[in-house]
Amino acid sequence: MTTSPEITLNPLIAARQSRRAFAATSLPDDVLTTLLEAARWAPSCANRQAWRFVVVRTPEGLARLQPTLSAGNDWAKAAPVLIAVVSREDFSMTIGERAYYLFDCGLAVENLLLQGTHLGLVCHPMAGFDEVEARDALALPEGLQVLALIALGYPGNFAELDEATQAKERYPRTRKALEEIVHFERWTGEAR
Ligand SMILES: Cc1cc2nc3c(=O)[nH]c(=O)nc-3n(C[C@H](O)[C@H](O)[C@H](O)COP(=O)(O)O)c2cc1C
Repeated sequence: MTTSPEITLNPLIAARQSRRAFAATSLPDDVLTTLLEAARWAPSCANRQAWRFVVVRTPEGLARLQPTLSAGNDWAKAAPVLIAVVSREDFSMTIGERAYYLFDCGLAVENLLLQGTHLGLVCHPMAGFDEVEARDALALPEGLQVLALIALGYPGNFAELDEATQAKERYPRTRKALEEIVHFERWTGEAR
């Protein structure tokens, strides 16, 4: 596929990364509001805006939510803010078998991550948590789903992470080649 040195990747997309080391510093309200504002301006199916967010940042709230994290996400306990991304299928359109609430929420989260990158923050989305426990910790009404938790904060000291987490951070970031994911005009080859 053709590339050109003049046509470059958006620097925010190039810079965004799921990092794991947090400083203890809390996030000012205006910074948090800007992140949520970025999420709010995401596109969504029929503009249904299926995303809801529970921002957790008090010691009490964090103490309720942190134990729901999977063991592999222990590093996120150092984040001063956890945002739960909450939704329900009927908050967006379902067309045939395509339920768009997941799509809408994904777009909002990427907006938030890019805005956080722009502000120099560590923003790390996570699926590794116990959803039943998280719903309880967040006092969610029946039927609402927790789709993801996002760990947020200012960058911390890599050297203070445990060995296993440091190893994850060192792991090279990779992506499938364009040839593996893009077809032109019609699908070619096997479904994979
Ligand atoms: C929906 C979703 C769930 C994720 N869950 C976790 C998680 O539980 N723990 C974790 O360390 N990273 C998690 N990640 C981060 C991915 O591992 C990361 O995005 C991927 O390895 C690519 O790396 P990059 O974000 O630095 O480009 C998740 C990312 C997404 C989008």
